[in-house]
Order: sequence, then structure tokens, then C-alpha cells
Amino acid sequence: MRGWMGKFRSLFLFGALAMILSGCGVDNLSALKPKGYGAELLLDLMMISIAIMIFVFVIVMAIYAFVLVRYREKKGQEDVIPKQTEGNKSLEVIWTVIPIILLLVLAVPTVQATFDLADQSTQGDEGVLTVEVTGNQYWWHFNYEGEELATSQDLYIPTNERVYLNMKSSDVIHSFWVPTLAGKMDTNPGENMNTMYLEAYEEGVYWGHCAELCGPSHSLMDFRVIAVSPEEFDQWKEDMRNVDPEAQPETTSAQEGQELFNNNCMSCHAIGGASMGVGPNLTNYANREKIAGVFEPTKENLVDWIVHPDEMKPGNQMPANLVTEEEADKIADYLLELDHSEVGKDLPTQAPDEE
Ligand code: CUA
Repeated sequence: MRGWMGKFRSLFLFGALAMILSGCGVDNLSALKPKGYGAELLLDLMMISIAIMIFVFVIVMAIYAFVLVRYREKKGQEDVIPKQTEGNKSLEVIWTVIPIILLLVLAVPTVQATFDLADQSTQGDEGVLTVEVTGNQYWWHFNYEGEELATSQDLYIPTNERVYLNMKSSDVIHSFWVPTLAGKMDTNPGENMNTMYLEAYEEGVYWGHCAELCGPSHSLMDFRVIAVSPEEFDQWKEDMRNVDPEAQPETTSAQEGQELFNNNCMSCHAIGGASMGVGPNLTNYANREKIAGVFEPTKENLVDWIVHPDEMKPGNQMPANLVTEEEADKIADYLLELDHSEVGKDLPTQAPDEE
């Protein structure tokens, strides 16, 4: 009994671990719970391939079990060798034709989906939104083509409309992945621009990850896609356009923070308008769900981030110790007052675990 248990102990452990880990994860960050056209198509393909795998596995195991039992060594017949078959036309035809059929069943929908997801036929049409996505170490910039507005980290889109993404990178290769909405797509440096589209069926906050190893803080390169109704999306655009970066904050501390921000941070960051995206655009900052994409939105974390970004996200481009902790405190007060739009605030959201 002991030996038997010992042999299979690691199998049990791995089995239990796999079952427990499969319970981990977050709604709206799962390719298995699609809420968009691309993700739905991909889940269908996964299901087809898993069904084929199960079919092949069951048949092979059944034949294996049959041979094991039927041709096992029997008492009194130790020296008997079963009839040997060498070359059988019908068998060979069967095990050649069946895999061909299975491959066709897999290939036809896969090729169809590939062309479907690469379709750009409506891009540039009246009222069809295109967003320029730029991957940066370690944050995302979204520039709304023809809209004169830009955001960072939070991509707002209207539901049930195709939104095209023209994707590139400012430094190394990143990969844009919102598992609940679509498959992933690399963002490349240089002239090589990739294009994909998102189409969300439901309003919601969908989490995204960078899916290409891009440096020491690759795992900290999260972002959000916020899908709202087309009416709310128009409202959001309106709100974003009406942002006045010079608007006076309420508290004295925030007012001082604004001045410090304008003097120290504005050369890279922007508030309002369509920034070039040297650093993240911080419009509507108070509505971010995480600091720098991954940290809990406490003021303490924000102050830490402003002073020591190098310690929190190693390898990122934001200079450390540009301001003192006291100054950072005021800048944080200012940023946390940047509440520019109500749109999307009421959507339920479940952020991945804190880093
Ligand atoms: Cu960007 Cu990984």
C-alpha cells in the first residue's frame, strides 16, 4: 500500500494543485468567459480542438486496454505467440484517413477565424473608431484617431461596435492582451504596425496584460478596457474634451501640487488633450483603479510611486527622486482630485491581486 501511495503521491499533489489553481483568476480576465467577438471565436476553436483531443484519447485508450486484456499472457499458454500481422491495407487506410478528417475539421474553422479576425473592411468608415495603441516600458498609451484625445492605461470603447487598434511600440516588443475580449497582438517598434479590432458585447471593465516578456517589470504592465454604451462613450469624449488643465484644485495642498506638477512633470505627462505620449496622460487620474497599472490606489502608494518609481517598477523610464516626499504628497493630492468624468464609474470591477 505504502509503495503504491509513494509512487502516485506526486501525481496526487500535482492533480490537487492543478484543481486548486484552476479556481484562481478574475472574471473579466479570462479567455474562458468571453465577452467579446474575438474571444468568443477563439473559445470556439479551443473547444473544437479539445473535443478532437478527447475523441483521439478515448479511442487510443480503448484500443490500448483491449490489446492489454485480449493478448495478455495466459496461464498454461506462456509460450504461445499471437498471430503476427505485418501490413494491412484497410487498417492503414483507416489510420491515415481519420487523422486527415480530424485535421480538416480543425483547419477549416481555424483558417476562417484567422481571416475573420484580420478583417479591416470597415476601418476608416464614417463613425468607426480607430485607436492608436502604443506599448511602452511599462505602460500603454491610447490615442483616439481624429478625436483629439488620448488616454493612458484606461482604454474606453463603445459596446457592440468594432473598434480598430493600430498598434506599435516605442521601445521593445510588447503584446496587447485583453483575454475576455480578444486574442493577443504584438506591438512592434519601428514601422511594422499591427492591426486588430475589439468588439465588446457587454458594458464592463476588462483587464488586460502585456503578454510579451519586455523587461524586468513586464508582469507589472496591466491596463484596463472600459466598455460603455455608445451614448455614454460620446459623453465620455465630451468630458475629456472639456478638461481644463489649468482648472484650480480645491485644497491648498492640491493647488501647490498643481504648480509642482506643472514645473516638474509636464515635460513628459499631460492632462487633457491629445498628448504625444512621452509619459502617461493623466487625465481623469482619480478614476484609475490602480497606481501605475498595478498598485492599490492609496495615497501612500502614489507618493511612493512619485518619489521611487524605480523601486516599484524596475527599469521604467520615470526619473526617481525628482521631487521630495513632501512635494510628492502635494502632487498626489492634486492628481487624486483629477476626476473628469462620471462615465464607467458605476461598472462593477474586480481587479487582479495587488502586486
Ligand atoms: Cu510589455 Cu511585457
